[in-house]
Amino acid sequence: MYLIANWKLNKTVENLEPWLKEVISEITELRSHHNKKIIIAASDVLLTTLSKLINKSAKARKLGISIAAQDVSVYVSGPHTGETSVLQIKDIVDYCIIGHSERRAMGESDKDIYHKAKNLIEHDIQPIICFSQLIEIRNLVSYDLDIDKCLFAYEPLYAIGTGNEAPAAEIQRVYNRSGLKNMIYGGSVNSDILEHYVGLDFLNGYLVGSASLDPKSFSQIYRFPFQA
Ligand code: PGA
Repeated sequence: MYLIANWKLNKTVENLEPWLKEVISEITELRSHHNKKIIIAASDVLLTTLSKLINKSAKARKLGISIAAQDVSVYVSGPHTGETSVLQIKDIVDYCIIGHSERRAMGESDKDIYHKAKNLIEHDIQPIICFSQLIEIRNLVSYDLDIDKCLFAYEPLYAIGTGNEAPAAEIQRVYNRSGLKNMIYGGSVNSDILEHYVGLDFLNGYLVGSASLDPKSFSQIYRFPFQA
């Protein structure tokens, strides 16, 4: 099960070590790690430092904490000021979020997401593709994307950053119609709502925004259902 901390445009270099240390101390004493895998999605400028911190921490390595970029350019090189190429992140991250609604709102299209996903897969980075409507998945399939090589996060727009998480029945319905083998969910996830989702066997994890900023609340999600 994936637990992805999507920090969005938050955190600076000095926040990284304290966050990591606190999360590690909150979860290392747990007897069972429930097969949970932590992925930190940080701004590009933080990725190298984050990677160094994880590599030098035996506990972080043991827990298998990994890193994701929050986006990647559709271009691989060339005159594209301000963009970040897959070649520039491939030695640092194992995952990359694409298709987040906050980026789609800035003009990212399904075609862009398809090209980004293809570039990522070619460079051994697993795409984490956010979607809020099934048509977005259908478009990617029609472009011939190998969806089995991607992680898909259902993130309904009304649930992002609002405190209104999606009802379990809706997540189930979307999954049933999606054609996906498994799926993760994002949108106002915190440890208090997880019990609503316990019956969703296909659910392979959570993409956590606001509740990932505080290491304590993120760790509580990790610890669920063992809160002690
Ligand atoms: P949220 O954000 O947990 O703050 O709703 C989730 C996301 O946008 O990925």
